[in-house]
Amino acid sequence: MPQIQKYPPGWRVLHWVMALMVFALIPIGIVMAERAQANIWGALTNALYSWHKAIGFSVLLLMVVRIAMKLWLKGPPYPAEMPRKLQLAATSLHHLLYMLLVLTPLFGWAGVTAFPALITLGGYHLPAMPFVPVNEALAERLFQVHGALAITLGVLIAGHIGAALKHLLQKDGLFRRMV
Ligand code: HEM
Repeated sequence: MPQIQKYPPGWRVLHWVMALMVFALIPIGIVMAERAQANIWGALTNALYSWHKAIGFSVLLLMVVRIAMKLWLKGPPYPAEMPRKLQLAATSLHHLLYMLLVLTPLFGWAGVTAFPALITLGGYHLPAMPFVPVNEALAERLFQVHGALAITLGVLIAGHIGAALKHLLQKDGLFRRMV
């Protein structure tokens, strides 16, 4: 596996584009779910759902690219002076983020397949997830898991941002590797 000192440009672009997408997805998801709960339907609610499904499904597709990149290229090493425990904590957090970035959209996709509510931006339909039956009660449970995973993802992202800001203030070069 090639060893690099800084993340390559494609990797960095993907990181920041996906960060923006997830930043948009969480508030859009919360607002649209609250509007649905309050039975507020109309153009805005529909638009929020359409954008959420389109961006969320794109995150899933981009994760395939990202995982392929990660398997192909070994990320830059941590500085030798960084404590082993901290290196382990950072790597574990990154792996958890990867897992949630796959599981969260997968449960959302499964939910809209079971509901079914596959229509998205411009009237296009997402493909149905294979082997998921149409069943509203199942969709309800899938959405509950989806929401819980998304909130966990949000909490972990807050921790990830906190750690990144700490590196920025410490000027140890770790923040710059991804900018
Ligand atoms: C990383 C990707 C995603 C994130 C971070 C995310 C985040 C969220 C959040 C925070 C909620 C609100 C949960 C609640 O308040 O109960 C939500 C709801 C929802 N999401 Fe996602 N989502 C993602 C991907 C997807 C995908 C790929 C789909 C479908 C193709 C999808 C469909 C939905 C639907 C339909 C709801 C509303 C569920 C309901 O009305 O109970 N999401 N999402």
